[in-house]
Amino acid sequence: MDGIRIISTGKALPERKVPNAKMSSYVETSDEWISSRTGIKARYFSEKETSLSLSADAARQALERAGLSSEKIDLCIVATITPDYATPSVSCLLQKELGLREDIPCFDINAACSGFVYALHVAAHMMNGTGSRHALVIGCEQLSRILDLKDRSTCVLFGDGAGACVAERAPGIGICGVLGAQGDRDALHCCGQGRKDPFIRMDGRAVFRFAVTKLEETLRELERCSGVPLEKVDYFACHQANERILRHVQRKMKIPEKKMVTCIADYGNTSGASIPILLDEMACRGLLKKGTKVFAAGFGGGLTYAGIYLEMDRDLPGAEGKETS
Ligand code: COA
Repeated sequence: MDGIRIISTGKALPERKVPNAKMSSYVETSDEWISSRTGIKARYFSEKETSLSLSADAARQALERAGLSSEKIDLCIVATITPDYATPSVSCLLQKELGLREDIPCFDINAACSGFVYALHVAAHMMNGTGSRHALVIGCEQLSRILDLKDRSTCVLFGDGAGACVAERAPGIGICGVLGAQGDRDALHCCGQGRKDPFIRMDGRAVFRFAVTKLEETLRELERCSGVPLEKVDYFACHQANERILRHVQRKMKIPEKKMVTCIADYGNTSGASIPILLDEMACRGLLKKGTKVFAAGFGGGLTYAGIYLEMDRDLPGAEGKETS
C-alpha cells in the first residue's frame, strides 16, 4: 500500500485578533494567568468569516503553492466540528467554491482535535483504493461560535482558523500511524447550536491527563511503526492545546525543545485546524525541507488520538524570500 506525503500547505485566519487582555473584558482572568497556564497570548475570533471562507482561503493558498489547478484534486476532506451547516458539509461547499471536479468524494469528518490526522489517514487509504493522486485535506474551526464567553475555564483557550494541505499518494513509502478513541462525554463535550447548552464544556484536568498520556504513547507508537528513532525525527508537529502539555511530554521523552514546534501563542487551540496551521507555520519558517522527518500527533474531543509519520520529498513552499530558522 502506498503512503501519503504533503506537498504544500496554506492557512487562513479571521481578521479579528483577540489578545489575552481583551479576554479580561469577558471574564475575570489575566494575561498572566492565561499565558503562564497555557502559553496562549492571542487567538482569532471570526466576525464576517465562515468555515467555508476560511477553508477556501487556506485551500487556495495550498493549491497555488503546489502549482495545481482545482481540477487536479481527486478527493476533498475537511476535518471540523464547526461546519457552517449540518448539511451541506464544508467540503461540498468547497467543491462549488473552488470548482473542484464533480466526480470526486467530498466529505467532512469529526474527530475534533485529532481530525486532521484522521483525515490524512482516510485520504491515504482512499487514494490507494481508487488509484487517485491528489487530496485536499483541510482542518477548519470556528470555535468562537461554541464558546461560552462567561466560562473562564474554556473561553480563554480556543480560537478560529483553517489550515490546508495538498497531499499526494506516495508509492514506495508505507502508511504509518496511529488512530484511536476512548469515548468519554464528561471530559469534553459540546451539544452544539440550537441545544439548551450549546457551548464547549470541559474537565480541564481530566483532558490534561489524557493528553499527556496519549501524546507520549502515540509518539512511541510512531517510533515503533516508522522505524525512525525519536532522535532522528526532525520535528514534532503536535496538536496545540496547551504549551504545558507539549513541554511536559517533550521533557519526559527527552526531545530537544526546538524540535517540539509550537504556535499556540498566536492562535490558541484551534482544534482540527491546529496541526495544519502548525505545518503551514513550519513551511513558512523554512523547517520543512527535502528529507525532513516529522511525527504529527493529535489528541482531544471524543476522546480521540491520532498520529502519522510524514517525510518531505521536497522543500515545501512558503518560506521563499523569508529568513528561515
Ligand atoms: N483565569 C483565571 N483563573 C482561572 C481561569 C482563567 N481563565 N480558569 C480557571 N481559573 C481558576 C480556577 O477557577 C481555579 O481557581 P480556584 O483554585 O480558586 O478554584 C484555578 O484557576 C485553577 O484552576 P484549574 O482548572 O485547576 O487550573 P489548571 O492549572 O488545571 O489549568 C487548564 C486549567 C484548562 C489550562 C488546564 O487544565 C488544561 O490545559 N487542560 C487541558 C485542556 C485542553 O487542552 N483542552 C483541549 C483539548 S484538545
